[in-house]
Amino acid sequence: MNLLPNQKAAQKSECICQGAVNCRPLSLFLIIVISYSRYVNVNIRTASSVDIPDIKNILSQYILETELVDDNIDWFVVAETMGRIVGCACLDSSIGLIELRSIAVLPGWKNKGIGRRLFETIMQRAKGMTDRIYVRTTARGFFGKMGFEALDNSQKPVLWQECADCDKLDVCMQVPMVLELR
Ligand SMILES: CC(C)(COP(=O)(O)OP(=O)(O)OC[C@H]1O[C@@H](n2cnc3c(N)ncnc32)[C@H](O)[C@@H]1OP(=O)(O)O)[C@@H](O)C(=O)NCCC(=O)NCCS
Repeated sequence: MNLLPNQKAAQKSECICQGAVNCRPLSLFLIIVISYSRYVNVNIRTASSVDIPDIKNILSQYILETELVDDNIDWFVVAETMGRIVGCACLDSSIGLIELRSIAVLPGWKNKGIGRRLFETIMQRAKGMTDRIYVRTTARGFFGKMGFEALDNSQKPVLWQECADCDKLDVCMQVPMVLELR
């Protein structure tokens, strides 16, 4: 059928509208999924000395040790999103065993998968270095999900000299845990 130019234009615009209407449910679905998804897009990268204040700020939110950050900055990774450091973790090999330390995520950013991403990056780095990785933690549930198993408390002074020397050992809430890598 021969259509006049304005009829062709009208038909084309109708097709576009129909396409938009057909796409609308999909677009709405995607918007809802993205809005309600608890996971966020973060970049996990090796830390550098410029990140030290941000790392100390995150650790101090949970009264975690900050004294060792400066000397161990090369062993830290950070989680960054939109130019902001929102999480950190450290692989410490300074005391004979390999320990995951200082893993923390800013309060407003917890439960969005960032802790798991930090853990997975640290695990990649630990591979080839050791058969097992230790942690002393009050976040037992999180590490249980990551595959760690709790050790008996009596292992703490055996594995860590600083625990053996600590006068708060009897009241310390940190649980020793281990993850076998092979
Ligand atoms: C522990 C911590 C780093 C976890 O980070 P996070 O970004 O909130 O964790 P994620 O969102 O990646 O959670 C991964 C999984 O662990 C679970 N999880 C997280 N924290 C948990 C907790 N305290 N207890 C039980 N499960 C927990 C999540 O539900 C999720 O499970 P799923 O994958 O089955 O849904 C964070 O809660 C934190 O900063 N805690 C305070 C600091 C701290 O105590 N650090 C430990 C020092 S050793």
